[in-house]
Amino acid sequence: MNLFFSETDKMCQVISEEYHLLQLMSRFGISLGFGERTVREVCEEHGVDVATFLAVANFIKGGEHTAAYFIDKVSVRALISYLEQAHAYFLDFQLPEMRRKLLSAIAFDNDTTQVPILIMKFFDEFYGEVRNHMQSENRRTFPYVEALLEGRLSETYNISMYSRNHDAIDKRLQELKNIIIKYYKSGKDTQRLSSALFDIFNCESELHVHNAIEDYLFVPAVKLLEECVRTQTHSDTPAPDPERRDDTLSEREKEIVGCVVRGMSNKEIAEKLFISVNTVLTHRKNIARKLAIRSVSGLTIYAIVNGIVNIDEIDLK
Ligand SMILES: [Fe+2]
Ligand SMILES: [Fe+2]
Repeated sequence: MNLFFSETDKMCQVISEEYHLLQLMSRFGISLGFGERTVREVCEEHGVDVATFLAVANFIKGGEHTAAYFIDKVSVRALISYLEQAHAYFLDFQLPEMRRKLLSAIAFDNDTTQVPILIMKFFDEFYGEVRNHMQSENRRTFPYVEALLEGRLSETYNISMYSRNHDAIDKRLQELKNIIIKYYKSGKDTQRLSSALFDIFNCESELHVHNAIEDYLFVPAVKLLEECVRTQTHSDTPAPDPERRDDTLSEREKEIVGCVVRGMSNKEIAEKLFISVNTVLTHRKNIARKLAIRSVSGLTIYAIVNGIVNIDEIDLK
């Protein structure tokens, strides 16, 4: 798939090409001053998951069709953190700022109608709806997904329920903008009103993208996670962990490496660890994939170097 941005691009060029990505910096906790460093280097320096950063960056630039490529690559945890930061930005900064500007723009006119009051009422209702929407995600949806990441399913909630009820919060802003443009008669101070309207257009588009990231990236990634947890819950076969894309072995996998290099058969390992032979085979497959080592002699070197076994435990003949 042709992506707009990749991990080897220089971060400064990425931002110059799409200035809307500046929002990502605070939401991912990345400070400016990138120098010549690449996206990967900057993300690693700030402890940000590179795939998740690229997923959001490409989405903002290219829209929803870029999401499919990243669904099985993003870190759901990193995505939640990004969405929470975005909520804080909308609720604590952008919307209060918009309200202040709008109030100052319409208060400057000697309007004898009730339209300015109704506009502010409309805005406050919209603000309340956005607050409820985002707080519900912060308080219900994200904690549900956090529990999922720890392997716990819920009997009363799932991501499809969230998805079915996920409203497009930008729509009401579109209405407000149209009401002002069509029905509000501005006085002399049109600059203030234009500036307030410009902010509304901007916010509408940011909210639209935010919602779309939740619909096209977050929801499908959580569905994958749900499948993964369900598989784990109903079988002793270790399922692929979507948050675990690195080469680090789990404690269980290390145990199995230890058994293999001590010369134990799959059946002996299964009996020792109280698991099925099939489970041992799946672990061995995962170990081979993670380490790119298939031979026992290769695993032996790995086990010695990483302190999984002592050299005197190994029969080197
Ligand atoms: Fe949200
Ligand atoms: Fe949402």
